[in-house]
Amino acid sequence: MVDVILGLQWGDEGKGKIVDYFAKDYDVIARFQGGPNAGHTLYVGDKKVVLHQIPSGVFHQGTVNLIGNGVVLDPVTLRKECEVVASFGVDLKKNLFISERAHLIIPTHRALDKAAELSKGNDKIGSTLKGIGPAYMDKTGRNGLRVGDLLHKSFTTSYIRLRLKHQRLLDNYNFNEDIAAWEEEFFDAIEFLKSLNIVNGEYFINKKISEGKRVLAEGAQGSMLDVDFGTFPFVTSSNTISSGVCNGLGIAPQKIKEVIGVSKAYCTRVGGGPFPTELNDETGEELRKLGSEFGATTGRPRRCGWMDAVALRYACMINGVTQIVMTKADVLDSFERLLVCTAYKIDGTETTQVPFQMLRSPIAPCYQQLEGWKMDSTAIRNEEDVPPTMKNYIHFINSKVGAPVRYISNGPGRDQIIKIYS
Ligand code: GDP
Ligand code: IMO
Ligand code: MG
Repeated sequence: MVDVILGLQWGDEGKGKIVDYFAKDYDVIARFQGGPNAGHTLYVGDKKVVLHQIPSGVFHQGTVNLIGNGVVLDPVTLRKECEVVASFGVDLKKNLFISERAHLIIPTHRALDKAAELSKGNDKIGSTLKGIGPAYMDKTGRNGLRVGDLLHKSFTTSYIRLRLKHQRLLDNYNFNEDIAAWEEEFFDAIEFLKSLNIVNGEYFINKKISEGKRVLAEGAQGSMLDVDFGTFPFVTSSNTISSGVCNGLGIAPQKIKEVIGVSKAYCTRVGGGPFPTELNDETGEELRKLGSEFGATTGRPRRCGWMDAVALRYACMINGVTQIVMTKADVLDSFERLLVCTAYKIDGTETTQVPFQMLRSPIAPCYQQLEGWKMDSTAIRNEEDVPPTMKNYIHFINSKVGAPVRYISNGPGRDQIIKIYS
């Protein structure tokens, strides 16, 4: 069977830590979408590691890690990541596998991402500029190059053809940054990539499933950044929700069992786009400071706000979430009162649904107020030590979103997690 861990908000919910925590119970950890726009933080001992494309199970001996066909892969980032992971003694030749169907991010994809963002002016998405959008456009536009193409002698010709096509687009944008250095790095990195295990991902993973191995699919970004269901156009370019597991790995839907959704105890977002519960005040600043809310990939300050139960309920619905892991509960330790948005008021009407367009009319969040727990929660490991006010907070969320919070994460450390039975 296959279980899934994915983000329920706008990314950075703590998926890396949670996948690392659960990985010990699985044989295969597989990334199914996204690319180096992701930054998944975990701790190996007291050392912090940020993974971008390599699945977050990689530090567990006995797991194998698959980069699925749904990922857009940047060989340059991959090589750097591999060097970091290998410095911990992990043998990537043994435990990292890459689908030959994964599309490649080439240097001109990054240039196009930059040029497209610049051309949008004030309407820019706030992309991580890693080339994600252009690479997925080449996939759906049927122009892209795939990892498996690297092994064929026609690769250089295909690369030059695609690069020329991109150059014409870049000329249209008047983009004239020199990307020669990026290309040099790229060609070095693809030699490295060719030395890794390139496999037919769909046969690989289905064989594991038929052998009774346990598979954990790791999502990147978050449900509100899904290209279909997120806050379009301020989204990423892939299906970040549970349906993405099927086409990002080649797994049939009936194989999926648990859908574990990761949500912060509050909300953050990095980049542009609607964010109904955003706090542009001291409280927002406090959340940013206490939660160290700065992007793991770009270092940008994250926008912060109260828990949005309307968006969370929507995310639980479209993903079929069976359990929630609520992270960063400790960030709320010092707050006297906590607000949870339970409805949106739009043009004078209250709704508990996420609207099609979140920017057309201003959205006023309707809040319910709950009491904070006002204690240092970071050392709690057992449910019986969870203060009633914290229990009340999660029970309130359970009742609003229709899925149970089964774990509370109360610090970035590997062991800072509490299992909740009731
Ligand atoms: P991801 O992209 O979903 O994997 O999340 P990121 O790694 O981008 O951001 C999550 C940040 O929060 C990282 O710095 C984590 O180390 C940290 N983190 C994860 N869980 C917790 C938690 O429960 N409490 C606190 N204080 N930090 C956490
Ligand atoms: P993880 O996996 C948070 C955001 C960007 C931007 C939008 C589009 O670490 O949770 P893109 O680079 O995909 O063109 O950017 O999506 N974004 C993320 N925000 N966490 C991420 O990944 C993100 N990946 C992309 O900031 O608003
Ligand atoms: Mg992140």
